[in-house]
Amino acid sequence: MSNSVHGKWVLITGATSGIGRACAELFAKNGASLILTGRRAERLESAQHILEEKYGVKVRTYNFDVRQFPEAVKMANDLQESEIVPDILINNAGLASGKDKIYEGLISDWEKMIDTNIKGLLYITRAILPMMVERGEGHIINIGSTAGHIVYPEGNVYNASKFAVKALNEAINLDLVGTEIRCASIDPGACETEFSEVRFHGDREKAAKVYDGYEPLHPQDIADAALYICSAPPHVNITNMVIYPTAQRSAYVWGKK
Ligand SMILES: NC(=O)c1ccc[n+]([C@@H]2O[C@H](COP(=O)([O-])OP(=O)(O)OC[C@H]3O[C@@H](n4cnc5c(N)ncnc54)[C@H](OP(=O)(O)O)[C@@H]3O)[C@@H](O)[C@H]2O)c1
Repeated sequence: MSNSVHGKWVLITGATSGIGRACAELFAKNGASLILTGRRAERLESAQHILEEKYGVKVRTYNFDVRQFPEAVKMANDLQESEIVPDILINNAGLASGKDKIYEGLISDWEKMIDTNIKGLLYITRAILPMMVERGEGHIINIGSTAGHIVYPEGNVYNASKFAVKALNEAINLDLVGTEIRCASIDPGACETEFSEVRFHGDREKAAKVYDGYEPLHPQDIADAALYICSAPPHVNITNMVIYPTAQRSAYVWGKK
């Protein structure tokens, strides 16, 4: 496809690990300049050094928690002062926290997921999308989940937060009708990142078991999909891509060995 990302500014939230970090690598490799966000400052700094050196692209970093709307506004203002309008926004920062029956779930886990996966995505979108609308072009990619298509036992609030991302992805698309701005969601199934370690509150052994007996998706697979979506010609708006590992056909149907 001809619509290269070379020279474009790509803003990726949650770029310190997993899918976000893999997107940063692939887009930089393809000549895009990057705006990376995350809470772990040292990882942002190291990604900046590595990617600038390796690919000769510009990398800006913003160290903040997406649950803080004023921080998103601060980033948007700073970009505006530097006359940068992100060409592509990858709303990726997110997490599952806990996996419990709903009558035993921790309120703190629920608040983390709702505040990050739904409100964080909204805050970043509200801060950045007006710049795209003013310029009349742009592309948003929301990282949803297959958990936003089908509910599984003990997934409850994580499922609900990703159903919300699915609804917001559709809503953003509807509200952008008549503009050249495109909006997609990529909805992965099981992908091996720090996701399960975070979900199980740092229990690495329990996390590793999630990926036992089959080949899960790798974060690079999702980055490939994001690049494909962004490389489609301007009149092509891919609105949703659902990606499972071959061994997983739904939340319930697995071909584990
Ligand atoms: N892995 C899977 O199986 C899977 C499947 C479907 C969908 N997803 C979705 O994919 C996205 C990326 O997850 P991943 O699998 O790559 O997991 P990951 O390796 O744990 O990465 C999550 C990223 O989100 C950032 N993040 C989390 N909370 C944040 C906050 N409050 N403020 C700012 N950044 C925050 C983290 O950075 P800091 O900790 O540095 O802030 C990290 O960079 C998530 O939206 C997740 O729901 C994952």
